[in-house]
Amino acid sequence: MNHIAVLTSGGDAPGMNAATRSVVRTGIQHGLTVTGVKHGYCGLIEDTMTPLNWRDVSHIISKGGTILRTARAPDFLTEQGRTKARDNLIARGINGLVVIGGNGSLAGADLLAKEYPELRVVGLPSTIDNDISGTDATIGYDTAINTAMEAIDKISDTALAHDRVFVVEVMGRQCGDIALQTGIATGAEAVLVPEQALNIDDLAALLLQHHSKKTSSSIVIVAEGNASGGAMAIANQLRQRHSDIEYRVTILGHLQRGGSPTCRDRVLASKLGIAAVDALLKGENRVMLGTINNVIAATPLQQAIQPRQHNGQDLLEVVNLLN
Ligand code: F6P
Repeated sequence: MNHIAVLTSGGDAPGMNAATRSVVRTGIQHGLTVTGVKHGYCGLIEDTMTPLNWRDVSHIISKGGTILRTARAPDFLTEQGRTKARDNLIARGINGLVVIGGNGSLAGADLLAKEYPELRVVGLPSTIDNDISGTDATIGYDTAINTAMEAIDKISDTALAHDRVFVVEVMGRQCGDIALQTGIATGAEAVLVPEQALNIDDLAALLLQHHSKKTSSSIVIVAEGNASGGAMAIANQLRQRHSDIEYRVTILGHLQRGGSPTCRDRVLASKLGIAAVDALLKGENRVMLGTINNVIAATPLQQAIQPRQHNGQDLLEVVNLLN
């Protein structure tokens, strides 16, 4: 192996730049040529790639977003798209690829490696959602929960000032981790996650009990993948039950994806970037590098993209016990 490429794909996550920097610098340390692919898999198909040297990745470790840019690439889902990508990689003499991204991106990485056995492909888990198996945490998740926590703390100030109930929606696709962590960290009265069914009457009764104390406000955190609908739908259902309580809705949205990565995300990204290049050099293929109990571990990509086996019950109990 003498030439590797690196790309970031899917939703950006804080720490993607730190991971890119680590891959580039580790590759250079091992005497490899390193190429950066622009706009994820679109760049492989359109052949928008550029060589990266040591200095190209200076001063990016603290930056959110991704200098390589990212994209969701529907063309890569077609065989024609992947053939083009493969041809461009061959033409450039690239024989190793590091894909930094979430579930869909890692699934794409596995497919490419399966169809093109001469290319070694490894993945790094990077998404704010924390919905990937084979790693304690994904790169970007820690920053996102801290960003959301700070935002909800601010919402709590105004909620308390008016004795209002705020229903706050956080991201996470089908994973409730962002909601659960921020719910505990902000002392939210209730957390609604995709993994557990919600009884709206129980929630309404809980809020009424809180509100009747007249001294308290309430925060309800809703994970976007919750089956009862988003924050707006839940607030409407609650309004129908208590017309005398003032409800407000805040959807945190993409602010959860931006910002400078936390120390934890920078360190995780740096360690996993080194592990990714080492894995390629050792001949590993179709694996994702993550940490399990804080130790670097390689998990087959096929396994990493399976839904994680937890329902958040332990963390929901913490929410319920402390409120
Ligand atoms: O996967 C990251 C994520 O931010 C999800 O939490 C969210 O559902 C989705 O991406 C939003 O995607 P887009 O930026 O394409 O609207």
